Amino acid sequence: MRKLVAGNWKMNGLRVEGAALARDIAARAKAAPPVAEIVLCPPATLLVPVGEAIAGSGVALGAQDCHPEGKGAHTGDISAPMLKDAGCSYVIVGHSERRQDHNEGDAVVRAKAAAAVAAGLCAIVCVGETAAERDSGRTEAVVVRQLRGSLPPKLTAGQLVVAYEPVWAIGSGKTPTPHDVAAVHGRIRDALRELAAESAAVRILYGGSVKPANARALLSIADVDGALVGGASLVVADFWAIARGCG
Ligand code: PGA
Repeated sequence: MRKLVAGNWKMNGLRVEGAALARDIAARAKAAPPVAEIVLCPPATLLVPVGEAIAGSGVALGAQDCHPEGKGAHTGDISAPMLKDAGCSYVIVGHSERRQDHNEGDAVVRAKAAAAVAAGLCAIVCVGETAAERDSGRTEAVVVRQLRGSLPPKLTAGQLVVAYEPVWAIGSGKTPTPHDVAAVHGRIRDALRELAAESAAVRILYGGSVKPANARALLSIADVDGALVGGASLVVADFWAIARGCG
């Protein structure tokens, strides 16, 4: 399966700059199709204009969250069928910023991932340890516990992507050593196999301070099947250099 490079714009971008960023990436993708699959995950207000800007370029659209239910009395929330209707093929669920800011636990993340798959979306499920968990030697135990709690059963590589994002690496400029990334990704691969034979080939992304300078090294580690990119996805040249680093 192709590697996947996803840009998580988080809560950044107004219409004019968001559409311009997307148009620039779409133009580069058309001119020199990247080896990796590219997904842009803008804020919900930009899904439609970004979708229009990337139409026909091979770049896919993703959202940053969804509600576990399809519709109903949930003021301010957006459902997975609505995201599908807006042109998405991916949705991120369980990002650590949502786990922290909105108190989302594994059970709700699992319900969101199941809703995404039921709507025909591919769920990008995020897991990762805090600095305190890492310092106490619990990284792998935490990640495996989150996976077991957050993944719906028997999802295939077309329905699920796992993103390993150490919380302390997000936006900090710090990254784990290649040795540590390899160990955690290997453990995630084992956990996926243990959970279901169908899930053995699910792509495992690394996320947390991926930059042009470290992308090639990170993306060449065994069982690193792509990257989830935050800050650097807002700078066209940087995001593009990361995407090219997969090839
Ligand atoms: P970062 O964010 O690349 O800015 O560290 C990654 C993420 O939170 O997905």
